[in-house]
Amino acid sequence: SALDVVVVGSCNTDFLSYAPHLPKEGETLTGSKFETGCGGKGANQCVAAGKLGAKTAMITKIGDDIFGLEFLKSFKANNVKCDHIGVVKGVSTGVAAISVADNGANCIIIVPGANNSLTTEDVEAAEETIKSSKVLVCQNEISLDVTLAALKLARKQTVKCIFNPAPAQAGLHSDFFTIPDIFCVNETEAEIMTGSVVNSVESAIAACKILVENKNCRSVVITLGSNGCVYQAKKGDEPMHIGTDKVFAVDTTGAGDSFIGSLAFFMCKFPHLSMAEMLKRANKIAARSVTKRGTQVSFPTASELPADLYDDNDDDDD
Ligand code: RIB
Ligand code: NA
Repeated sequence: SALDVVVVGSCNTDFLSYAPHLPKEGETLTGSKFETGCGGKGANQCVAAGKLGAKTAMITKIGDDIFGLEFLKSFKANNVKCDHIGVVKGVSTGVAAISVADNGANCIIIVPGANNSLTTEDVEAAEETIKSSKVLVCQNEISLDVTLAALKLARKQTVKCIFNPAPAQAGLHSDFFTIPDIFCVNETEAEIMTGSVVNSVESAIAACKILVENKNCRSVVITLGSNGCVYQAKKGDEPMHIGTDKVFAVDTTGAGDSFIGSLAFFMCKFPHLSMAEMLKRANKIAARSVTKRGTQVSFPTASELPADLYDDNDDDDD
């Protein structure tokens, strides 16, 4: 294929405020630091793959404001093709107001802005780009019908697809479960999707089974932060747990995006590795991202990573 990873998804400018703890209702807190950066789950996952060395493309909409221009600059600097990025007149680029606590936890309010202007026609117009990619990645920060159109197109073209329904939404149509090759959620999202509590490796394994056996997902990854992830390859299989490196978390914002972008990268560039090995490597890269502030700026590039992450074989030597 001409391209590795294509993302149909969101751009949000991140406004990150760092404070001792997350604010409670009605509380005014004095923070210690403020930063802005290019974010949004779609753009983050695309840039994460691009920084690792994948050839990527982003299908998205931005506003005709200075924030939109920043996205174009950042995409160009990070291996992302911009042929299908629309600029919407009189609409603001998506924004995310993010609070980050000293322990690395965060909470986010997003205002979609131009992300809501992405249409199924835009996806159809990008058909050639999607067709010429190895992996399509979608999230849940644009209209559901647009995401579904992209997933269906990928399936028709036998382009592998990863769906990350984040932020989670209850009552998703069954197509969102059955079409993607990989359905990837975090603990909260898994809970909303299954109605069963997910707060441990064991409960994640149970949720994984519900998603594969009852919701008919083809394969499922549930990310568990410092506990790594669990993965079920197909119906009837036993889910496996893949642990990760213990790190000092400074900012967990975008860690899930780093993980998914990395997984997409390995699926394209090292397709013969086992899924367990790809997930192990994606875990390691995501763990690294939480040791730095911010989202895209915290994602590592190839040159910053140990060579064994780019090793061509599956052998477990650590
Ligand atoms: O997953 C992290 C991202 O979620 C942030 O970059 C923010 O923009 C929100 O979309
Ligand atoms: Na980070």
